[in-house]
Amino acid sequence: MRTKLLSAVIFAMLFAFAATAMAEPIVIKFSHVVAVDTPKGQAAEYFKKLAEERTKGAVTIQVYPNSQLYKDKEEMEALQLGSVDMLAPSLAKFAPLGVKEFEVFDLPYIFDGYEDLHKITTGPVGKKLLGMLEVKGIQGLAYWDNGFKVMSANKALKTPADFKGLKMRIQSSKILDAQMRALGAIPQVMAFSEVYQALQTGVVDGTENPPSNLYTQKMHEVQKYVTFSNHGYLGYAVIVNKKFWAGLPADIRTQLEGAMVDATVYANSIAKQKNEEDLASVKASGKSEIIMLSDEERAAWKAALVKVHTEMADRIGADLIQEVYTATGFKKIKNTKNLGRI
Ligand code: LMR
Repeated sequence: MRTKLLSAVIFAMLFAFAATAMAEPIVIKFSHVVAVDTPKGQAAEYFKKLAEERTKGAVTIQVYPNSQLYKDKEEMEALQLGSVDMLAPSLAKFAPLGVKEFEVFDLPYIFDGYEDLHKITTGPVGKKLLGMLEVKGIQGLAYWDNGFKVMSANKALKTPADFKGLKMRIQSSKILDAQMRALGAIPQVMAFSEVYQALQTGVVDGTENPPSNLYTQKMHEVQKYVTFSNHGYLGYAVIVNKKFWAGLPADIRTQLEGAMVDATVYANSIAKQKNEEDLASVKASGKSEIIMLSDEERAAWKAALVKVHTEMADRIGADLIQEVYTATGFKKIKNTKNLGRI
């Protein structure tokens, strides 16, 4: 009788052990719209590597780059529905989720460089913005850098007057809409995956993006001129469906959060260099001419764009804009004669 009982216990233990060993991994689908060889693409791959190693195979991260799974607008809806688990949309794409405050990052010339930007993304303002996602059922995990934007077209864009009447592709941000209008251009919202073809066929005349996106999507092959304007920033927030994230076993979630911290350090260490390299590759390709602005030309761009800060204050919140100015040391812009640092 005792032997039988012992055998039964051993069998039950072996069965439980085998069942655990055979347990299906938790699959996390991570969708994004850019190429693998970009700051975001590389960071997503690095997160996958760390997450799978640290959870010893209990988690599988399936990364879908290049809009393979969803385009810009669809991916936000899919996250809320739970059809995809993790995204890293550009900060210019959060208004359709109901958090238009993220568009503060789109204000022209609001950051002098990465150092300024990090005062926001690693400080209380960045934290507050991520917190605003919670009521939308979304949890913000991190900010990932990309870089400062260039403008491209088939005509040389040196002064604001050069933009007059050009159809310029933008992301869905109303700040970017106002920015293009301030330059005299006609903004056209379009999914990232459609931009190359739209430029090639002349549906739009030009666009803006950091060099890493321009180069990896081969946009420079269908744009004769690229102006090194650094007129605005483009970066990301990594987000997950809150319910999904909270439902993960606590130990797994902790390991994934650790992997995200390290992937973020990695992302933000490669972005600047990647953009510099890709701008150099655009130049080396000989397909588009890189235009460097003179001090006078840059001042004219700034003078034309400065009004967007005040024009859009009601949309983003004057207080939030002021918080960014204060954190970065940016002087409040009253008029084009008092430009602060811009
Ligand atoms: C764009 O749509 O231009 C970018 O936001 C794409 C990206 O995710 O970098």
